[in-house]
Amino acid sequence: MINLGIIGTNWITEQFIRATDETKSFSLKHVFSRTEAKANKFIKDLSKKDIQVSTDLDEFFSSSDFEAVYIASPNGLHFQQAKLALEHGKNVIVEKPSTSTVREFTILDDLAHKNGLFLFEAARQIHEPIFKKIQHYVENNRDELSGATLSYMKYSSRYDAYKAGELPNIFNPKFSGGALYDLGVYTVYDAVVLFGQPDSVNYVPEILDSGIDGSGSLTLKYPKFDVNIIVGKTKNSYMTSEIYFNRKTLLMDSGGDITHVKLADDDKNITTLPTSKSDNPMDSEASEFARIINENDQETYEKLLKYARIVNRILEQARTSAGLVFGADEEK
Ligand SMILES: NC(=O)c1ccc[n+]([C@@H]2O[C@H](COP(=O)([O-])OP(=O)(O)OC[C@H]3O[C@@H](n4cnc5c(N)ncnc54)[C@H](OP(=O)(O)O)[C@@H]3O)[C@@H](O)[C@H]2O)c1
Repeated sequence: MINLGIIGTNWITEQFIRATDETKSFSLKHVFSRTEAKANKFIKDLSKKDIQVSTDLDEFFSSSDFEAVYIASPNGLHFQQAKLALEHGKNVIVEKPSTSTVREFTILDDLAHKNGLFLFEAARQIHEPIFKKIQHYVENNRDELSGATLSYMKYSSRYDAYKAGELPNIFNPKFSGGALYDLGVYTVYDAVVLFGQPDSVNYVPEILDSGIDGSGSLTLKYPKFDVNIIVGKTKNSYMTSEIYFNRKTLLMDSGGDITHVKLADDDKNITTLPTSKSDNPMDSEASEFARIINENDQETYEKLLKYARIVNRILEQARTSAGLVFGADEEK
């Protein structure tokens, strides 16, 4: 097992640690939090023992008790924290989206290569067996591929706080929040892994007073078809996501958290594609990241990095074309 440090003590980090325990991939050794009390509560909730705690980032990264760090802080902090980690010789697993700008991604990409370290963007769904099933179907039917409509729109519990006058991180441009970067990133990953790099990108958002996109529609243009994407954090969508193959259609219950896949023909015969889904959606990525590090699987690693590069470029192109500005844009 690879020794692990973590940044961020919210539910997602707990879920990741449960995944690393279930898959015996990483072993938690060190927790960074801004407050010792939160770190201790996090450790206690997971019934862990002998875990170091740091409230100072330099001290945390200077520690020799972990080789990899999982970063699940607000998006706008990922870059500085991941950069510091790579400078201190740590492998990095950083939550999606790993960076706020292409410039930031390029700096991390170069630094990871220069220091011989791994930099993973935690796009959990592309590692799951259910996604691999879809990928396999697309690869075997590429000649018929004729477009897709993907939807990932969930009313955020933090939207209530936003409407009550607070500014939660995910609705704050300073922390690179908004529907596209928070949920759209999953659907952009779907498109990039399944269909490759689009020729052009167009994003039409509904912009909130805070300056971020509460929801929006994104079109990715490919040479022979379009992929239309709907994302949002201010409403709920129950729309099925679809991939078109002329007369046949692959139906998915979500563009981001896929639990069912079906195939429909033009006689409206619908069959379920058999596949498996772990209760913890982070299991697959945890075991895959550990496998890549342990086996030094550079080929798979470079493929994942290539996806991340394209996704980060699409996100930046989409938001800048729509006039969405992040705090990170000023740090040039
Ligand atoms: N893969 C998935 O399924 C999934 C699901 C949810 C979220 N995410 C990703 O996980 C990341 C964290 O999301 P989240 O919703 O948990 O974010 P969050 O609640 O805003 O912050 C996460 C953690 O970062 C620290 N933090 C919060 N505000 C901070 C600030 N102003 N300055 C410094 N540190 C701060 C806190 O830890 P301390 O108080 O202990 O310092 C907090 O627990 C995001 O990148 C998000 O996209 C992924």
